[in-house]
Amino acid sequence: MSNLQTIEKLEQQAFIDVIRERRSVRAYDPTAVISREEMTEILELATLAPSSSNLQPWRFLVIDKQELQEKLLPIAFNQQQVIDASAVIAVLGDVESYKKAEKIYGHAVEAGFMPVDTAASFIERTVGMYSNLPPETARQIVYTDGGLVSMQLMLVARAKGYDTVPMGGYDKAKFVEAFGIAENYVPVMLIAIGKATKPGHPTTRLPIEDVTFFNKMPAAE
Ligand SMILES: Cc1cc2nc3c(=O)[nH]c(=O)nc-3n(C[C@H](O)[C@H](O)[C@H](O)COP(=O)(O)O)c2cc1C
Repeated sequence: MSNLQTIEKLEQQAFIDVIRERRSVRAYDPTAVISREEMTEILELATLAPSSSNLQPWRFLVIDKQELQEKLLPIAFNQQQVIDASAVIAVLGDVESYKKAEKIYGHAVEAGFMPVDTAASFIERTVGMYSNLPPETARQIVYTDGGLVSMQLMLVARAKGYDTVPMGGYDKAKFVEAFGIAENYVPVMLIAIGKATKPGHPTTRLPIEDVTFFNKMPAAE
């Protein structure tokens, strides 16, 4: 094996280790702090995730003030990690993300990735389509993109020595009200992030043949 192949192999293994080591962690050191700088870096890497038409509809409300974590606690059914984690990140999906199409494609032009005419027609088409979607379709798109960015965030966090737990166990209506979330932002999930004091429980997965079918799905069971 050449040196380059050895390095590639090590990099591949490091990435696989991150995936294997990510567990949902529910016990955190309440004194651990994630600096704004590091949080920004984690979020920046997370947002390299793909999204529908690259509209990047994810929005993050980072709740790292203890008093706000305490306010969130009963809304998240008193899950202890809400107050002990360094932060709880509310991943939201903006159903009006097309409003940033001009900025997104403008950047692509500035970066030399796209000719100006192509960008102009992309913007026109994207805004026309996304601003007229049935509300349920718009929500499904931001749930999908929000899920992708959330997964990437959890892996980046693990690679940087932090742990996470995704949470769907919270009262969305109460959350939206308590944190003054505008109507265009759909809550996708909460992610607690911090320094683990106890590892996550080991979990199992279904064998791959139970969940994977080549070329034809089985009939309904
Ligand atoms: C959308 C979603 C919502 C979840 N909600 C919660 C939650 O509210 N509280 C919790 O402790 N774990 C929650 N989990 C974590 C799952 O229980 C966990 O991912 C699963 O048991 C597999 O374990 P692992 O993440 O350690 O691999 C959630 C996971 C997902 C993907």
